Amino acid sequence: MTDASPSNPASGFHIRPYAADDLSAVIALWETCGLVVPWNDPRCDIQRKLDADGAGFLVGAIGTRLVASVMAGYEGHRGWLNYLAVDPGFRGRGLGRNMVRAAEALLLGRGCPKVNLQIRAGNIAVADFYRRLGYRADAAVGLGKRLIPDAPAMAAAVESDEQFRILPTPPPADEYLRLRVRAGMSPGTPEAAALGLPRSLFAVSAYHRGNLIGMGRVVGDGGCNFTIVDVAVDPDRRRQGLGRRIMAKIMFYLQRNAPPGAQVFLLAETPEFYERIGFRHIDPAGMAMYWPHGSKYDIQETKK
Ligand SMILES: CC(C)(COP(=O)(O)OP(=O)(O)OC[C@H]1O[C@@H](n2cnc3c(N)ncnc32)[C@H](O)[C@@H]1OP(=O)(O)O)[C@@H](O)C(=O)NCCC(=O)NCCS
Repeated sequence: MTDASPSNPASGFHIRPYAADDLSAVIALWETCGLVVPWNDPRCDIQRKLDADGAGFLVGAIGTRLVASVMAGYEGHRGWLNYLAVDPGFRGRGLGRNMVRAAEALLLGRGCPKVNLQIRAGNIAVADFYRRLGYRADAAVGLGKRLIPDAPAMAAAVESDEQFRILPTPPPADEYLRLRVRAGMSPGTPEAAALGLPRSLFAVSAYHRGNLIGMGRVVGDGGCNFTIVDVAVDPDRRRQGLGRRIMAKIMFYLQRNAPPGAQVFLLAETPEFYERIGFRHIDPAGMAMYWPHGSKYDIQETKK
């Protein structure tokens, strides 16, 4: 369909419509790129796209190897991009840009005046990629409502693969609040969860049969300060290595994203667990403090 631009160093890269034979390669690509989450069954997503608008589903290949994908759709008001992915071994060569440009050309050809996309919480770093391609944050809040749940099909697939699966996304707010209570943490509120979870720098969620059984997040300014929060494993799933696997994902994120000189903190209720990973106490007497939310704060009194 579309040749890569002449400046594209990935010679032989070409973009074409998805074909039935691409199914397993596309799902493998999405899994490698962290785009598969338990509430979306990728097979259902592909079938729905083919039923609704197969021509809007593009893949990129080098020779016979499938290395990229994007879904484009136009509902008469806005165009939408979904499932943009480039194989990690082929990034930084303009393939992502070529995929987005091909999707934009397809939408433009349909008379679409504006294109929108959503970035999952926990993947906000990819916003810089889109900014380079001319995308800007809209003054709008994205809302969603599921009409057809995929979870049972997905849960069965996950269950046949392994005992649990850890995904690089924050948990849904209701599941997050439930696990906090089960794990013996303070309950949290829907308001706080709705605001805070999408702002995570990084998050992981572990699922078993579609149920959240573990989680952990990194919050902070992304440069000077990183704080590890909400590391929790369901009581029925403890002592099976899940906490260590969650921390391994978090440490991998920090090693790649926390620049030299950054401070990495956590409040440890189980210090032995974090000591094994290499964390050290700030001060044996304890310097960490917290503000009891809602307690009286009077600027005049604090001056006395
Ligand atoms: C995002 C993604 C598609 C980019 O693919 P890519 O082939 O590496 O991107 P390109 O090489 O075309 O990059 C185009 C430009 O963006 C920059 N860029 C790419 N990834 C970037 C990132 N994560 N942060 C900042 N800039 C980035 C490139 O340096 C290049 O800059 P230039 O304008 O100076 O040339 C790829 O990283 C990916 O598959 N990520 C995982 C899936 C994902 O998050 N998809 C988006 C869902 S909303």
